[in-house]
Amino acid sequence: MSISRAGHRLPPGRISYVDGRYVRHADAHVHVEDRGLQFADSVYEVIAVSDENLVDAAPHLARLERSLSSIGMRMPASPAALTAILKEVARCNRLRNGLLYLQVSRGTAPRDHAAPDNPTPTLIVTARRMDPSQMAARRAKGVAVITVPETRWARCDIKSTGLLPNVLAKTEARKQGAYEAWFVDEDGFVTEGSSTNAWIVGSDGAPITRSLHDNILAGITRGVLIQAMSDAGIAAEERAFSLEDAYGAREAFITSATGGVLPVIQIDGKRVGDGSIGPVTRNMHTLYQALSLKISML
Ligand code: PDD
Repeated sequence: MSISRAGHRLPPGRISYVDGRYVRHADAHVHVEDRGLQFADSVYEVIAVSDENLVDAAPHLARLERSLSSIGMRMPASPAALTAILKEVARCNRLRNGLLYLQVSRGTAPRDHAAPDNPTPTLIVTARRMDPSQMAARRAKGVAVITVPETRWARCDIKSTGLLPNVLAKTEARKQGAYEAWFVDEDGFVTEGSSTNAWIVGSDGAPITRSLHDNILAGITRGVLIQAMSDAGIAAEERAFSLEDAYGAREAFITSATGGVLPVIQIDGKRVGDGSIGPVTRNMHTLYQALSLKISML
């Protein structure tokens, strides 16, 4: 056992946080009647750690509050207290680069669809190391995406753990040797990826991504990138684009906490542009990195 900076007695190895306790990852568990487990009555965030910095933590926690409020719940702790827990989990795991996963469920109660009156939420935080050179290699090479029909619900703005369509979509992508799957709605418009926001670059060089009014997740990476573009005097077109538009795009890319800005070089087996990584996408990566780094250091 060692003692953490916050005074917790820590077992060696990978550590997770469950409801106030820092425990061995192998021993971390929630109740069998946790509503997150039985109903996906839970919301989550994924926050990147880069060179020991929490990336864009404040907007992630603000979105967590919005997701919770949309399902009639309050934050389990203040953003400052949650940030302290995230940092402590990162520190306990000696996480220099990787991901922190934070989930809040409506707690444990005898199984009943109706939510209990005064639930005690379950809060879990886990950490996962990632080798930054792997993502850098992916960024240098670009990724392939496939497309699948949009089968999700009308509240994709809530970052819910009810992710079965996303799981099936990503699994299909992996089966076909692709990195991501883009959902396409019944009118032929791309909505977003299974765990990323989707972007294309139009013939005039303007980056285009679907509007937040159109049932997608308000990606934090997407938002920070739009801010960075605006600071640089570049306007993002926030509007729907069709799969045909995507096939004919000059460039395409995806954004997420996991990968930042990742170039897409193939859609449904067709080359995007000339199949190489374009200058707009490269610039988007540079702009995003610069602003998110600044936010992380605040
Ligand atoms: N996914 N769209 C969906 C459906 C997502 O699940 C995510 C994030 C995004 C990108 O959002 P952000 O930039 O805030 O990461 C868009 C996380 C990474 C996940 O589920 O692992």
